[in-house]
Amino acid sequence: MTGRYRRDLALVHHLGFGFHADACAPGILALLEPVLARNGLVLELGCGSGALTRHLVAAGHRVVATDASPEMVELAREHAPGADDYRVLALPDEPLPAAHAVVSVGHVLSYLRDEPAIDRALGAIAGALTAGGVLALDLCDLTYAEARRHAPVANARVEADWAIVSRFEVPSPARFVRHITTFLRESDGSWRRDDERHVNVLIDTSRIPSLLREHRVQATVGPSFGDEPLPEGLVAVVGGRVGRPGLEPGPEA
Ligand SMILES: C[S@@+](CC[C@H](N)C(=O)[O-])C[C@H]1O[C@@H](n2cnc3c(N)ncnc32)[C@H](O)[C@@H]1O
Repeated sequence: MTGRYRRDLALVHHLGFGFHADACAPGILALLEPVLARNGLVLELGCGSGALTRHLVAAGHRVVATDASPEMVELAREHAPGADDYRVLALPDEPLPAAHAVVSVGHVLSYLRDEPAIDRALGAIAGALTAGGVLALDLCDLTYAEARRHAPVANARVEADWAIVSRFEVPSPARFVRHITTFLRESDGSWRRDDERHVNVLIDTSRIPSLLREHRVQATVGPSFGDEPLPEGLVAVVGGRVGRPGLEPGPEA
């Protein structure tokens, strides 16, 4: 895993960066309506602090919320209560529980080591879906870097009790690297600093439908889950596993 989301970055992400999941939630909830209708189980990958999880739970879904970062899982447990389970789970090689839907937002798969690892994760996700199961995830396309060619290389956000400075570089066409520095105010008024380096792998997402078809999942790659515009270069993979729902036993949380 590249990009650790240790305690401080996990908290700053929680405090200031829930807007992406909020924007994606209506479209994803609409895609999940058939799953809700049969009380299916939703597996969320890279749930972070639960920004999407809380929408899923509020809509009445049974959710298993997972993330590779233990600090993120703890935040999700605290801030998005009501899921069936919260688990530390790192893609691509840890086994996934069977589910009637797999969802993931915030380009979680783009944090994997390389393109073969992303392919392995997509295969594992397809394998976790029951017949008729729904897939909805976003990840970075190769165009993600090009779309930011003229963007400011550094960004900062300063709040009363926390601040974040993020700088990016594109060392090669398929890598987008962020250097992230966080500051959190301690109870004595001093500031604690942490630094993380996140490498995102950019891929040609147009080949995802054929890859998933080999795993019995029909999917499309598009610019959004619903009506929300995703950031440029981020794509929504939406699909379903072939077969009629109900022909196999439902997964238990
Ligand atoms: C940009 S955050 C998005 C979090 C959350 N989904 C949201 O939208 O707020 C990316 C998340 O992916 C998680 N992640 C990174 N690599 C992962 C991996 N190999 N397996 C599972 N989760 C991973 C990180 O810990 C982090 O919580």
